[in-house]
Amino acid sequence: MKNNSSPIKRKIQIAPSMLSSDFSTLRTEINKCNEAGVDVIHLDIMDGHFVPNITFGPIVVEAIRPYTNLPLDCHLMIENADKYIPFFAKAGADMISVHVEGAVHLHRTISLIKENNIKVGVALNPVTPLEYAFEVAEFVDFILLMSVNPGFGGQSFINTFIERCIRLRSFLDERESTCNVDIEVDGGIKTDNLEKVIGAGANIIVSGSGLFSGNFHSNVEYFKKIISNRQ
Ligand code: DX5
Ligand code: ZN
Repeated sequence: MKNNSSPIKRKIQIAPSMLSSDFSTLRTEINKCNEAGVDVIHLDIMDGHFVPNITFGPIVVEAIRPYTNLPLDCHLMIENADKYIPFFAKAGADMISVHVEGAVHLHRTISLIKENNIKVGVALNPVTPLEYAFEVAEFVDFILLMSVNPGFGGQSFINTFIERCIRLRSFLDERESTCNVDIEVDGGIKTDNLEKVIGAGANIIVSGSGLFSGNFHSNVEYFKKIISNRQ
């Protein structure tokens, strides 16, 4: 069962967070993602209750859907996620993550996402005990480790992420046969810390301001260059 010597080689994926894009021209922003050859589109869903900010809901996900073949990754930062999961599924989400801090019956919520044939992720805030991730690992496709407090783009990376990510990756690799799980990192990722984050074992890299500030295409190219040096 244990196979430390040959952990699965995971593709390192770039996932722009649309929170930092220009909402007045969302279709153009999605096209930029298509053209730049990113891997995933990360959509931050905020309700003004679980986090202080409000963004958008399923109708925006549905509006984006026809304009990209990239997987739509809905990061739910909302209360009562169970109530809204079917709507995000219908809108065309390919991945949905829910926060442990906002879940009442987490296993039930995970099952609900799976029943909708959507990749399921569980998100942890920066100081939420990692044991939650250990408990859910066998039920999920990915674990989202927050490297900022959820709610806003453009915040500074919280360094404790690195040690947490190393611990989680090693836990997962030791259980490779039952836990085929990606680690997604979200918050404050820029060219100056990307290498460190990948080195710690994260393989779905969410970045908002790090990609959308300045020239999106050259930022993506720079990310890709750092990634290809690592692989
Ligand atoms: C924060 C969001 C992030 C955010 C990342 O709650 O989950 O996805 O947009 O933005 P940056 O990369 O600017 O920290
Ligand atoms: Zn996010």
